[in-house]
Amino acid sequence: MDFLSSLKNYLNEDLIKKLKNCLESKNIRGLFLNHLKMPKNTFLNKFPLIKQHPYVENGFIFDDNIYDFNKHIYHELGVYYLQEPSAMIVSSLIKPSTRPYKILDLCSAPGGKLIQIAINQPNATIIANDISFKRCQAIIENVERLGLNNVIVTNNDFSKIYNQYLNYFDIIILDAPCSGSGMFRKDSKMIDDWSYNKVLKFANEQKQLLDIAYKMLAKGGKILYSTCSYSYEEDEEVIAYILNKYNDLKHVMLDISKNFYVDKINPYGFHIFPFIFSGEGHYIALLSKDGEQSLSDLPKGEIKKDDYVYLINHSIKITNLNILRYGIKYKKIFNNKDFALTYHYSHSFNLDKLSNVYHINLDIEQLNKYMKGESLKLSENTKINQDNTPCFVLLTYDDVAVSYAKLNGNILKNCLPKYLKNKKYVF
Ligand SMILES: C[S@@+](CC[C@H](N)C(=O)[O-])C[C@H]1O[C@@H](n2cnc3c(N)ncnc32)[C@H](O)[C@@H]1O
Repeated sequence: MDFLSSLKNYLNEDLIKKLKNCLESKNIRGLFLNHLKMPKNTFLNKFPLIKQHPYVENGFIFDDNIYDFNKHIYHELGVYYLQEPSAMIVSSLIKPSTRPYKILDLCSAPGGKLIQIAINQPNATIIANDISFKRCQAIIENVERLGLNNVIVTNNDFSKIYNQYLNYFDIIILDAPCSGSGMFRKDSKMIDDWSYNKVLKFANEQKQLLDIAYKMLAKGGKILYSTCSYSYEEDEEVIAYILNKYNDLKHVMLDISKNFYVDKINPYGFHIFPFIFSGEGHYIALLSKDGEQSLSDLPKGEIKKDDYVYLINHSIKITNLNILRYGIKYKKIFNNKDFALTYHYSHSFNLDKLSNVYHINLDIEQLNKYMKGESLKLSENTKINQDNTPCFVLLTYDDVAVSYAKLNGNILKNCLPKYLKNKKYVF
């Protein structure tokens, strides 16, 4: 069966035609602002031609003929995350909160849905998991760049360990692996890769993942389910399956769904179609488990592993997890006495913490040199400590943390990770 014929099980001919026409048009670009690093007004003043996302606070839509946000230095400094505008709507369904939620992002890589949740839930502890070790590295890079301090990155197959976490998580994000038809316009390779057999294979996998997500969900907790597939078999049918199986699980009625496409027979979630909203295709449903939620704040901690010390601002049970990143990578210890502060730690200084630490604000020329991997020379009379002993100093640009550098005399030794040096940036 070809892709468009496979949609006849829920869409009429007119809608299929509209979808087909849209698949040939250009995709649109978006970004989610890390407002912990740069307030929205400051960002808007710098980029006045950017448009506010109609549904996502701190979400924006832009024209890449006007702004090159891919290469802009603010991207490297973690001021924003580039994200497709429909994908951004998924996480916006979890409202910002300061509650100490325990969150599991089950299929997290590269971390798009995670970033918005981590920024909007500062007191939550989030396990960002993916079955692919390689793709977990992309989560770690994003966590470091955005300076997130509440994320533990794990590389597990939860179908093998879910019984250690029964009724445990307050929120579970299941952005499920899928056939990817929603991304046809963005990535034409997806069209060649598509087959109806794949749809059925993914539908089966999605049901299994949703099943373990249900088992790990605490009473009163929520599952946010999404796919970037237009296929009914991966969307409504998966939700119908899980709702039929567990009678203490309900779908949450969402106000926002009236702006999109809701199926009449299985009205559990909503489809974002490009002819309704000019992003890519997504299906989103929110489910909740009956019962009273009881939240407990677990103690903060410090973890030493290999030569590194990690800071976990909040805590969570980590039984049987293959942990690749514990919270903030804070410092590297050399020979049990000397140490170096890390890039991740420097990026965790958001606007609120910046005012409490000594930092040197670089001008654009100094920043340019630093990003090339060069050391910087400060004026002779720059003294940070009385006896002039070498120390680490936080560097900033436009009040956004850049990196720690080691100050020795008046030389700021470059401490940027190798993979960031000599990239081409737009300033
Ligand atoms: C749609 S992508 C996730 C995108 C991500 N949530 C984001 O917003 O950037 C699906 C991910 O699921 C992962 N995956 C597939 N099967 C899995 C499983 N059984 N457990 C955990 N992750 C899985 C894939 O490696 C892939 O990274």
